[in-house]
Amino acid sequence: MTATSTSRSANQMWGGRFAEGPNAIMQAINASIGFDKRLYAQDIAGSRAHAAMLAATGILTNKDAEAIGEGLLTVLSEIEAGNFQFRVELEDIHLNVESRLTEIVGEAGKRLHTARSRNDQVAVDFRLWVRDQCDAAVAGLTALMQAFVAQAEAGADWVMPGFTHLQTAQPVTWGHHMMAYVEMFARDRSRFEDARRRMNECPLGAAALAGTGFPIDRHMTAQALGFDRPTANSLDSVSDRDFALEFLAASSICAMHLSRFAEELVIWSSAQFRFVRLSDKWTTGSSIMPQKKNPDAAELLRAKIGRILGATVALFTVMKGLPLTYSKDMQEDKEQVFDAADTLMLGLAAMTGMVADMTANRAQLAAAASSGFSTATDLADWLVRELGLPFREAHHVTGRLVAMAEAKGCDLPDLSLAEMQTAYPGIRDDVFGVLGVENSIRSRMSYGGTAPDQVRAQVARWKALLV
Ligand code: ARG
Repeated sequence: MTATSTSRSANQMWGGRFAEGPNAIMQAINASIGFDKRLYAQDIAGSRAHAAMLAATGILTNKDAEAIGEGLLTVLSEIEAGNFQFRVELEDIHLNVESRLTEIVGEAGKRLHTARSRNDQVAVDFRLWVRDQCDAAVAGLTALMQAFVAQAEAGADWVMPGFTHLQTAQPVTWGHHMMAYVEMFARDRSRFEDARRRMNECPLGAAALAGTGFPIDRHMTAQALGFDRPTANSLDSVSDRDFALEFLAASSICAMHLSRFAEELVIWSSAQFRFVRLSDKWTTGSSIMPQKKNPDAAELLRAKIGRILGATVALFTVMKGLPLTYSKDMQEDKEQVFDAADTLMLGLAAMTGMVADMTANRAQLAAAASSGFSTATDLADWLVRELGLPFREAHHVTGRLVAMAEAKGCDLPDLSLAEMQTAYPGIRDDVFGVLGVENSIRSRMSYGGTAPDQVRAQVARWKALLV
């Protein structure tokens, strides 16, 4: 079709006002059926609830409402069987379903749109869809947390280096590191639960924007669709997309968390670190370098945040500055949320698989834990505790000992007592007891610290919460 060609006939839903159909390019920019067909199940559920309510309030006859309810189920099965003809000239999922319904049930189908508008219809469809995605995210996060807890339980007392600035800081345990992610993903999970609670109000019945003169029962439709209550302001109901933005915001934070562990896996699985071995199931080989085992899934997870955060920024930009109430701009909400949701669910599943299948290299973790002067803080603490030095001075003495070991090319426990005493004469033989990493981790007994007993307590707490 050329830029000037038009559809032969005016739209069957509002053709009364129009002498000719839309320009083909107008149709291309205007139609959303290409993507909003994903809302078919929600659209049909919303329409069935609406029709039942119209009958209960005497706005429609029972006979018409029954025909509509049955007809909608036929449409549903046609779509699910893949023999529904989606028509671009019918713009979106709402008009496609209604038009087919009318073909099937005749006159009654034309009565379905009484006391509603596509504005409240799309608002309710999309809320139902996003609500399901919140539930899917909660389930996906629960599985991921379980995978981390299993890793933590196995390695509650395996020592590894803890890092700040990606420089060796203090020894920690593998279990403690795994449980850090459980905390992060638990916050994500609560964000999805929280967003779901807030979005669980039904906008159906707000009609175009002002409500309706028909004696509808909004509480009835809200209840039928599993909402807690109807929304309280019709203008807000059709113009609000906060629920989608909250879903995207929660998804962005979650994807950021995924990207952080993904980055750790990339580093840890390298030949230089060898902290973990990723399973063959989650890696790829190189077509030229036979030795390679690339952490592609982790790299992709590190990158996926880009799409999800991009969707978030896109929808914020769409919504920013829109006057009340509905504007067609808002049709641009769906593709962003669809893509972000698909990306997030795939990412959660991939990360869960990778975490469940990865193997920690316990020996390498332990070797790395005792290098890099990781127990320097334990030494400083010993000087404070045993010799009564002020911490600042203890820090200084320890710094001198680290410099000494560095110059000798050895670790702190390799210095002799005589060498230590050159830095501070009062140092005694029992200092060597605190220089081992095992001792170091066991001493970190403060609540939430890395001591294996603390880690085991957190594992037990989460195991009970995650059933
Ligand atoms: N396809 C539209 C959307 O996704 C449905 C609502 C259209 N409403 C309207 N008044 N044109 O936003």
